[in-house]
Amino acid sequence: MTVDMDKIVALCKRRGFIFQNSEIYGGLNGFWDYGPLGTDLKRNVRNVWWEDMIGRHDNIDAPAGAPSRFDMVGVETTIIMHPQVWKCSGHYDLFVDKMVDCRECKGRFREDHMAAIPCPNKPSKMVGQHDKCQLTEPRDFNLMFKTIIGALGTEEDAAFLRPETAQGIFVNFKNVCDSTRVKLPLGICQVGKSFRNEITPRNFTFRSREFEQMEIEFFCRPDESQQWYQYWRDRRFNWYINLGLDKAKLQMREHPAEELAHYSCGTADIEYAFPFMSAGEYGELEGVAHRGDFDLRSHMEGKLKNENGELVVEMNADGQPKHRGSGKDLSYFDDATRERFIPHVIEPSAGADRATLAFICEAYAEDEAPDDKGKMQTRTLMKFHPRLAPVKAAVFPLLKKDGHPEKAKEIYRALKDAGIAVQYDEQAAIGKRYRRQDEIGTPWCLTIDGDTLTDGTVTLRDRDTLEQVRLPANEVVDEISRRLRG
Ligand code: GAP
Repeated sequence: MTVDMDKIVALCKRRGFIFQNSEIYGGLNGFWDYGPLGTDLKRNVRNVWWEDMIGRHDNIDAPAGAPSRFDMVGVETTIIMHPQVWKCSGHYDLFVDKMVDCRECKGRFREDHMAAIPCPNKPSKMVGQHDKCQLTEPRDFNLMFKTIIGALGTEEDAAFLRPETAQGIFVNFKNVCDSTRVKLPLGICQVGKSFRNEITPRNFTFRSREFEQMEIEFFCRPDESQQWYQYWRDRRFNWYINLGLDKAKLQMREHPAEELAHYSCGTADIEYAFPFMSAGEYGELEGVAHRGDFDLRSHMEGKLKNENGELVVEMNADGQPKHRGSGKDLSYFDDATRERFIPHVIEPSAGADRATLAFICEAYAEDEAPDDKGKMQTRTLMKFHPRLAPVKAAVFPLLKKDGHPEKAKEIYRALKDAGIAVQYDEQAAIGKRYRRQDEIGTPWCLTIDGDTLTDGTVTLRDRDTLEQVRLPANEVVDEISRRLRG
């Protein structure tokens, strides 16, 4: 089925997944709000990531495919950090996109996106291809949002909203090692907001100015780093497949040398064929980067951009580094081998909003299903993986009388008490209630009817197969829990 992005955006608004930010004021470009169902869906994406990467991680035995046993821990660091962090990370000097202005239409465009952005002049062409286009030379535009700390508000009080959560992890590497009993190899993980002043935010939530990241900085011995790079590429790729993304729409793309970010000595992007991309094009879901010892070393020594655009430690005449790092020793002492070294880092960096958008696009489906009178009708459904579905089960009394609502509410409360996200619905014909749940991706519906009161069974209906089975009402909680465990 070819998926129509307009239909997905419309469903997201109609059913309360995603809204334009500040919509009643005309919206703010590049910012999006999540409605009640979208909030639950995105929270499930974050929670499942956390559970799979940290919560359920076995640090006694190595998981399949891992070179050795390892630890995974979490941190939560601030959005605003010491401005020196961004100088040493390279973001202050190098986190730029090339920007082009058009003197004719007054538009502002990212140079590498121009070929895909329509020019506002008629007849329709892309930016730069119209006779009237008067483009300026490309110039650097730093993507970090600036803010001011304190009441004085001078340039010296300037600070930045973090453009990645990663740096909060690097600057706490020593704290984590000193305060816990973890040893290398070690993953430190963080989920949180990041901000980028994107020149051309677009494609729904795909490129936003405020978004959320789920990042792992995996610290390891330099001589083991290639093995871990391979391990994390494979493991993260499979995570998306296990949660329902179609393998045929996913690809792993290794960056050529000229595309590597300033910190990276190898990066592979996990990409998904979003429906708004042209045929054969993919959009980045997650980058898995081999960052070497770039960050820890930079936060120790400090680096400056030289005339070749490289980050180097530049010395003053007195032999001191000009762009000072923290000066703190961030090396690691390996008790087992009695060696001291600066760990290398593998970074699987995922976007929570992009993953949520991919799961939404993948879930959207239309098929034919019988209505209450047995007539085939087009049905819209969201085939979310049960772990991600915002609502796991819905409970319906067939009638609003004869004891059906009382029994249905009993089952609804038993599911709630078990911590299962459940809805109760007694409005409209049963077929209509099924459709409402299909459209928000609820995997299972339970109907209470006359038989429930005599033989104690209820009907359980599966969203995707439409299969209906009867099971004892007192087994509903166990059955839904069992299905959720997978
Ligand atoms: N720490 C490395 C880092 O930030 P990145 O490739 O720039 O690497 C990682 O970002 C992930 O963050 C991307 O794969 C994407 O999922 C998400 N991301 C980046 N910019 C985004 C934006 N403007 N809107 C939504 N998500 C974004």
